[in-house]
Amino acid sequence: MIFAAILAGGIGTRIGNTEMPKQYMLLGSKPILLHTIEKFYINEKFEKIIILCPKSWIKHTKDLIQKYIGETDRIVVIAGGTVRNETIMNGIDYIEKNYEVSEEFIIVTHDAVRPFLSPRVIDENIKFAKEYDACDTVISATDTIVKSSDGNFIDSIPNREHMFQGQTPQSFKILKLKRLYNKLNDNQRAILTDAANIFVLNGERVHLVDGEVNNIKITYPYELEVAKNMLKK
Ligand code: CTP
Repeated sequence: MIFAAILAGGIGTRIGNTEMPKQYMLLGSKPILLHTIEKFYINEKFEKIIILCPKSWIKHTKDLIQKYIGETDRIVVIAGGTVRNETIMNGIDYIEKNYEVSEEFIIVTHDAVRPFLSPRVIDENIKFAKEYDACDTVISATDTIVKSSDGNFIDSIPNREHMFQGQTPQSFKILKLKRLYNKLNDNQRAILTDAANIFVLNGERVHLVDGEVNNIKITYPYELEVAKNMLKK
């Protein structure tokens, strides 16, 4: 069985909008989050699409789904966590409470604020998660990456050919992800910025999926403007 987890538990501090978390801001005729949900909703491989949002936004999110998609039992809305990986774990808890999870069950996790992902990227995530247990969507780094641990001087400049920029989805076998997460100590959890690292820190392989430059993450007002222009095209 395959599940989608749409990560909408953040509040979007960097975009500087105090009225609502950025995933609820309008992009064209509907909120960013709805564009993202629809990309998963039209893919019939998903048993359930789990939307994880701030607790106080659950009712609003349900109302939006009712308004833009209509009555459906394929979408559920539950509370996310205080950090991103906790949000993913809340999604897994939901699945474990409602299904008898086997080793083959897959979760495709995706940032709510990346509304332009393509059906190909979703399908390849499913394929590689089935085959390799974990996969991460990336694009080649176009800029040279400079490593500096103090922010003042360069430590090293890695070969650009080996550098990629992480996007989402990131997809995993559910039970394996949970086992590996539970094996990490507090220090390791503290440095986790994304879920693929749960595998990497445990010495497990994560297959790459070819991402797309269009699959942007709306982080600052600039990307929201870019997204609005992309939509017009
Ligand atoms: N996210 C989440 N749960 C959290 C934190 C983040 O589900 N506790 C989600 C966000 O809603 C977003 C995605 O992870 O869809 C990517 O995170 P980011 O762009 O950093 O979102 P925010 O945390 O909302 O933004 P900011 O860092 O500017 O506050």
